[in-house]
Amino acid sequence: MIDLNKLEDKQEVEGVFALLDIAKAKTKNGKDYYFGELQNNTGKIDFKIWEVLKSDIFDFTKYNKKAVKIKAVVNVWEGKKQLIIEGMRVAEESEIDKSELLPSYGYQKFIWAWGIIQKELEELPRVDGLYAVVSKTYSKYDREFKEFPAAKGVHHAKIYGYSIHIAGMLTIVNSLKDYLVFNKVNVPLLKAGILLHDAAKIFDYKIDVSIEGTDCLELIGHVSRGYGLLCENVKELGLQWNNELVLLGHLILSHHSKLEWGAAQRPKTIEAFLLHHIDMLDAILRVYVDFKLDSSGQKWSEKSLMLNDGGKILLNPEMLDRFN
Ligand SMILES: [Fe+2]
Ligand SMILES: [Fe+2]
Repeated sequence: MIDLNKLEDKQEVEGVFALLDIAKAKTKNGKDYYFGELQNNTGKIDFKIWEVLKSDIFDFTKYNKKAVKIKAVVNVWEGKKQLIIEGMRVAEESEIDKSELLPSYGYQKFIWAWGIIQKELEELPRVDGLYAVVSKTYSKYDREFKEFPAAKGVHHAKIYGYSIHIAGMLTIVNSLKDYLVFNKVNVPLLKAGILLHDAAKIFDYKIDVSIEGTDCLELIGHVSRGYGLLCENVKELGLQWNNELVLLGHLILSHHSKLEWGAAQRPKTIEAFLLHHIDMLDAILRVYVDFKLDSSGQKWSEKSLMLNDGGKILLNPEMLDRFN
């Protein structure tokens, strides 16, 4: 396994990667070349293919989203590492280990997250149907919730990302619990909303050698599909729609807050406002932590739309230049 965070300039690299993206372009001199991005479970790296010997008869873009075996040399360009690929082919089945290609938060973090989810689920009130609909959803899609990422980019975009996101949000609520109860927030409803708000993300993504969006993501999305899932489970359980279940539906439909951010409803309850902000808080924290984990100690992050409208984030304040 090649650790992308530990590559040195001019190092030779040979191994299997997921080809996340590839495109063909022309140099100033009119020569074909390819550029794109590779991934294994240690991270992602840009690549170039300058010597396109087979370009007349073969198109490397056909390898997109496949596992590929490459031979390359590391090149550091303007402080950033990239691979200059000398040879690339589709990997044989026997050469592919998907757990080595997909980014993952690791089993230890999953165990932490899943323990919190199970505890919080069991503590939901048995009246009003909250426990019934949440536990039915989690038992229906047990395998998916345990494995799935919460996104294909932006935040929690690694294996186990879904459970780590949900556990993170529940942890934030627990740390504020006394203050929330003092302010008359319906904490069990808020926790049920957290447990279900992103449940339909399991229909938004498919996992092969990389994490890809589905047609359901484009056409329906987890906000609407999540409400559909709630309706389906209320019906299957033979429950009547009471206030708690309607308010739970509102939490799912409004958790993206703004219509232009994918919400079907603007938040109209205190639990809905809080759920949106706790969702954002956990997402922001995770983006920052992942930048730190994946950065191999550099001072500034990559550009981030989520944290800074496309600007960089200071990862290591102790490395600041002298001010005077
Ligand atoms: Fe969401
Ligand atoms: Fe979320």
